Amino acid sequence: MLTPDLQRNSRMAQPNYHLPPGPRGLPVLGVALQLRRDPLGVLTRVAREYGDISHIPLLLQSRILINHPDLIEDVIVRQPQKFDKGPGIKGAATRLLGEGLLTSEGELWRRQRRLAQPAFHRQRIAEYAQTMVEQTLSLTRTWREGNIRDMAEEMMALTLVIAVKTLFGTEFTHEAGRVGSAVTLLMRYQVQRLRNPFKFSAKWPTPANRRADRAYEFLDSLVYGIIEDRRRRRASGEAPSDDVLTLLMNAMDEDGSQMSSKQLRDEVMTLFIAGHETTAVTLGWAWHLLAQNPGAEQRLADELRSVLDGRAPSMEDLPRLPYLDAVIREVLRLYPAAYVIQRTSIEPFELGGYYFPSNTTVLMSQWVMHRDPRYFDEPEEFRPERWLTGLADRLPAHAYFPFGGGPRRCIGQIFALTEAALVMATLAQKFRFLEPAGKKVVPEPLITLRAHSGVRMTLAKRS
Ligand code: HEM
Repeated sequence: MLTPDLQRNSRMAQPNYHLPPGPRGLPVLGVALQLRRDPLGVLTRVAREYGDISHIPLLLQSRILINHPDLIEDVIVRQPQKFDKGPGIKGAATRLLGEGLLTSEGELWRRQRRLAQPAFHRQRIAEYAQTMVEQTLSLTRTWREGNIRDMAEEMMALTLVIAVKTLFGTEFTHEAGRVGSAVTLLMRYQVQRLRNPFKFSAKWPTPANRRADRAYEFLDSLVYGIIEDRRRRRASGEAPSDDVLTLLMNAMDEDGSQMSSKQLRDEVMTLFIAGHETTAVTLGWAWHLLAQNPGAEQRLADELRSVLDGRAPSMEDLPRLPYLDAVIREVLRLYPAAYVIQRTSIEPFELGGYYFPSNTTVLMSQWVMHRDPRYFDEPEEFRPERWLTGLADRLPAHAYFPFGGGPRRCIGQIFALTEAALVMATLAQKFRFLEPAGKKVVPEPLITLRAHSGVRMTLAKRS
């Protein structure tokens, strides 16, 4: 039954439903085929051609693309109660993440967010900082002058070990590379399914479905292993640490009816994946962009030398490293790991002068917004300096939103920024990462924005 509010809304809205401008596309399919081939290109072209609010015809159901900070703010900050994450992300992520923080809704989400929040306070992150630096130093022990390494893979392994140790208080003894391959395989699999108008049921025993099943089972076994390990240590009387796993397990003990074992598994899996993958992707892009911009690379090295003089960084050093901060902001501007977010309305809503019914999906793309010349001069250029003169304060909120916004803003923002800064400060003092000038690394927009064939670089020791 409709609430009085909804009845009023739908009476107001219904006669005025009409779509904002957008491409025509093919009958039925819309632009599904182009979107499958080149999602970043389609989003950019539609936004530039049709303005701040447009529609993308797709398999009989249009998506609404918004490309203005005020409209984005409207959806994720001012009226978030009218939306949920929608079937797209849930379809792609439910089997892996279940109903963890990223995908759950309503009261369940609110409770879990409240529960996990203390583990992400700045003060707690400061305690993780030492682990972040130690693990980075330990990675470099096997690195030699002239080695060729895929920095996308190296960063994935490093951030995984850091996430598991800081968030779950346990050593990661498995082969980190296998996790990276399993996550990549599942992202490709899910995104292909999401964008493919013609697909088999996921239950059919096709080779792709079976490979995906094996990857799911492997990741599941790791996460259950982490939980089991903690249970064993607790049972043997080991003093509890105060990481996020403890917070979650205590909540389960107090109120088993609300926090089932399955829920615990979903939260741990969500943090296991979200807690390392996005930061790794960002670091991979950072090394590529620095290699392609020797001036910026030199300026960063100079700043690190003058502030740290060869010693390992700590969290207290970070405010004295403004150029490092600017580099990270600029990497997240040009290659935002989360390059598009979406919401689906659960009731009718008004946006930009248009009225939309419930079950309308709205897309907001960091990739498009962060390259908008109205807000960023020379938007395609890597220019960390732009952030040194107060740009962040001058920009309208949500012209730059690598971590989203509103109540569903990334819980791991401080964790990620601290980790990225400490890893970069540690590595960039010891090594330069070389790539042939002009080398193109092609973005692969999966669930996150990957580098299609990795980021292969030659290591050069800094003297
Ligand atoms: C550079 C690194 C990262 C980027 C760019 C990033 C980006 C984002 C974005 C854009 C969202 C909002 C999604 C939406 O509105 O639909 C989000 C949510 C989330 N992120 Fe991150 N993230 C990063 C690192 C992390 C880390 C390190 C963690 C955990 C340690 C984390 C955990 C989460 C979780 C649990 C959510 C869901 C929050 C909620 O809905 O309450 N993220 N992230």
